Amino acid sequence: MSVATAAKPVTTRDLRARKDGDPIVCLTAYTAPMARLLDPHVDVLLVGDSLGMVVYGLPTTVGVTLEMMIAHGAAVVRAAEHACVVVDLPFGAYQESPEQAFRNAARVMMETGCAAVKLEGGVEMAATIRFLAERGIPVMAHIGLTPQAVHALGGFISQGKTEAEAAKVSADARAVAEAGAFSVVIEGVQEPLARKITEEIGIPTIGIGASPACDGQVLVIDDVLGMFSDFKPKFVKRYADLGAEVSEVAKRYAAEVKARTFPGPEHCFGVKR
Ligand code: KIV
Repeated sequence: MSVATAAKPVTTRDLRARKDGDPIVCLTAYTAPMARLLDPHVDVLLVGDSLGMVVYGLPTTVGVTLEMMIAHGAAVVRAAEHACVVVDLPFGAYQESPEQAFRNAARVMMETGCAAVKLEGGVEMAATIRFLAERGIPVMAHIGLTPQAVHALGGFISQGKTEAEAAKVSADARAVAEAGAFSVVIEGVQEPLARKITEEIGIPTIGIGASPACDGQVLVIDDVLGMFSDFKPKFVKRYADLGAEVSEVAKRYAAEVKARTFPGPEHCFGVKR
């Protein structure tokens, strides 16, 4: 049975135990109404810092603040009854030292009620992941194309194409698993490499632009719904085109307001119909 249909909320331990089991289903959510809609169908609601781009219109995730993550994380936790809620630590909130990471991760957990945090980085973040995990903070790691490092990577470029790059991503995967992460997001890497890493490490891998062989998959909800049209990465599958529908609705509403056909008598007080 999928954890997604169990009565109890999904825990990080449940997810950890899904290695080589039923695929883990993960979508991002940033608001309570969306979290309520997605919650029965997913194992993980990820309050990703992608919200900087899809909600706040920022060019990258670099400008996202801890306060934004806490406000949206708390909204999603209030709405989720079933899924495990994981909140991203934003750029600058954890890279300085394990102590800084603990302080900010503890604040995120205390002020949102989420079950775990996610942070980007591999070998260089292993000591921080260990520090958090040993102090009661479950960590989902994130390796490969790490969007917070977009300026260092030279763009949103898939990783693992050269032998050296592939060796680095593999070393990152091993390091975060050994450090105590309960799962790892692998983003934007060559498919055979993501498959190999999934076979090699002992924690669940959650792919985005990675491989169907990963232990789970994650996508950004606005991409899935066709609500974000600035660009469409190769790995995105649009299951709907709500952006076009929203635009059509706004067009119809504007026409009815201008023609004074909205509001109708049924929308007015004290008008006999
Ligand atoms: O911020 C985010 O939404 C993410 C996912 C794309 C994995 O990190």
